[in-house]
Amino acid sequence: MFKIQFATVRNFSLLAASLLLLVFACKHQIITPEEPIDTGVPCNPDSVYFNSQILPILASNCAQSGCHDAQSHKEGIILDNYANVRATGEINLGNPSKSELYKVLNKTDPGDRMPPAPQAALPLEQRALILKWIEQGAQNLTCDAGCDTTNVGFSASVMPIISLKCKGCHQGASPSGNVALTNFNDVKKRVDDGSLMGSINHASGFTAMPYPAGSAKLPECDIRKMQIWINNGALNN
Ligand code: HEC
Repeated sequence: MFKIQFATVRNFSLLAASLLLLVFACKHQIITPEEPIDTGVPCNPDSVYFNSQILPILASNCAQSGCHDAQSHKEGIILDNYANVRATGEINLGNPSKSELYKVLNKTDPGDRMPPAPQAALPLEQRALILKWIEQGAQNLTCDAGCDTTNVGFSASVMPIISLKCKGCHQGASPSGNVALTNFNDVKKRVDDGSLMGSINHASGFTAMPYPAGSAKLPECDIRKMQIWINNGALNN
């Protein structure tokens, strides 16, 4: 009898713990479902994948407080997840280059351009990728990229992750948190003070990155590559 009672109490606390976990897990997924669902389908280098290639650009350059996050939704445009981008991004599948989402990136007047000055214009290759994604039907494709950790280096492995997922906020005259991540020296500084890995591992004592709170962690593969690069001496290679 005692045993049963004890077991019941224990099960109850397990249940409470799992419910708590569930609440957090849901909250986590709704905001930025960055980690692609593992479908076992290998990635096609010619296809554009929304969650891993387009959303990080929009998250770090557009879906910010005061701009196009769900709360601010300037001009009704919300760019924080696939459904909202499709619903509000004025995407023109029939004439992709006429899509507002793409057109605003190329405006010559820096006041009309997105992101507006003083933020820098998106790099040409990111603009081209957004256009290609629309040309391919603005789909939400998923694939299993695997994780190739041979020949991990700063330029080939680390900087591309930072350019895509961090630099939008961490560049220019007043980078977020006063943390610039525009080149090797900037990044190395954050390796040395522990904040690069602390923030992406969501370690206590650091602000969790990517921002804002509740955003999905970087995919495991990105974190693993950064750690390997650091373990190998964090060289400018
Ligand atoms: C949407 C904007 C945004 C994105 C995207 C973003 N950050 Fe940040 N980051 C911030 C802000 C804002 C702060 C300052 C937060 C604070 O002080 O509470 C910050 C702070 C930091 C810090 C200092 C943290 C600390 O506790 O000392 C580091 C390091 C950092 N970011 C790295 C990154 C990396 C690496 C990425 C990409 C994986 C990234 N950030 C993506 C906005 C962003």
